[in-house]
Order: sequence, then structure tokens, then C-alpha cells
Amino acid sequence: MRKRIEQTVCLMELDLSELSSVENTLIEKAKELMEKAYAPYSEFFVGASVLLENGEIFSANNQENVSFPVGVCAERAALAYAIGNFPDQAPVKIAIVAKKQGLDRLANVTPCGSCRQTINEYELKFKKPVEILILTPENTVLKAEGIENFLPFRFKDLND
Ligand code: THU
Repeated sequence: MRKRIEQTVCLMELDLSELSSVENTLIEKAKELMEKAYAPYSEFFVGASVLLENGEIFSANNQENVSFPVGVCAERAALAYAIGNFPDQAPVKIAIVAKKQGLDRLANVTPCGSCRQTINEYELKFKKPVEILILTPENTVLKAEGIENFLPFRFKDLND
């Protein structure tokens, strides 16, 4: 072995009381949209809310399709909607909430690989980290300070 390359990732677990008021709003909106998800195949309902630099909040949910790969995740729907409307405003935070249809208890969720790569893209575009907040079944919040914590060794430069 020539060398060993390690990268540390970090998630912080917070109580809801530790969130700022805008973070609480993001979580509440993500929950609201989670209930409206279209997920007849997986029955896994996800809501996501994006806070832009200018204070605008856009929320969305997963939209599935009988041709499974056509379905879109909540995070990517929310980011496309937000940045589609405000192409010059960096996304600064994204909140994610999930549950199985018919259950009151929330589910554990983390962004899928495609959503991680999408969040990475907007970090690159705006040169700013996107904070990720995930509400857990225990009603605590997992917070990551940027996508690097979910996508170590990310591909980020064509010319490096
Ligand atoms: N899903 C999301 O919308 N976001 C995630 O972070 C995880 C997965 C969706 C995709 C699919 O509609 C369903 O949840 C099950 O994978």
C-alpha cells in the first residue's frame, strides 16, 4: 500500500429545541409535503424543504411512476423547484422527513446517491455548503454541515 486516504464525516444529532425558527419551519413544511407524496409503489412518503439565501422556502415530495426509474425523490423535486424559480439564490438548508404510508411513526431516511450528487452540484454552482437536516423517528434532528458528510470523495472538478 502506498498510502491510506481517510475522510471523516460528521452528523450532529440535535433536539428540536436546538433548531432555529427557520429550521423548525423547514421541518414543519417538509412534514406537510410528506403527507402529500405520490408513492403508490414504495408506500414510502418523503417531504423535503429547501431554504434559499433570500429566505424563500420551496417544499416538495417524492413522485413515483409505474416505470420506477422515472420517479423523482422529494429532495430533487424541491431543489429543482427552488432553484428553477431563483437561479441566483444559493440553497442554504434542506430538511428531509419520511414515513411509511399508514404509520404515524416517522421512518429513518438519508438522501439517495442521486440526491447527494444533486446537492453536490448546487454546492459547486454556488460555492456554498448546503446544510442537511433530517427528522428522525425519535423526533431528533440529524444535521450535516454539507454534502461532503454524505458523499465523501465526491466528484467535483473536471480539470483537477
Ligand atoms: N425517496 C426520496 O424521495 N428521498 C429519499 O431521501 C429517499 C428515497 C423516495 C424515492 C422513492 O419514491 C421512495 O422514496 C422509496 O425509495
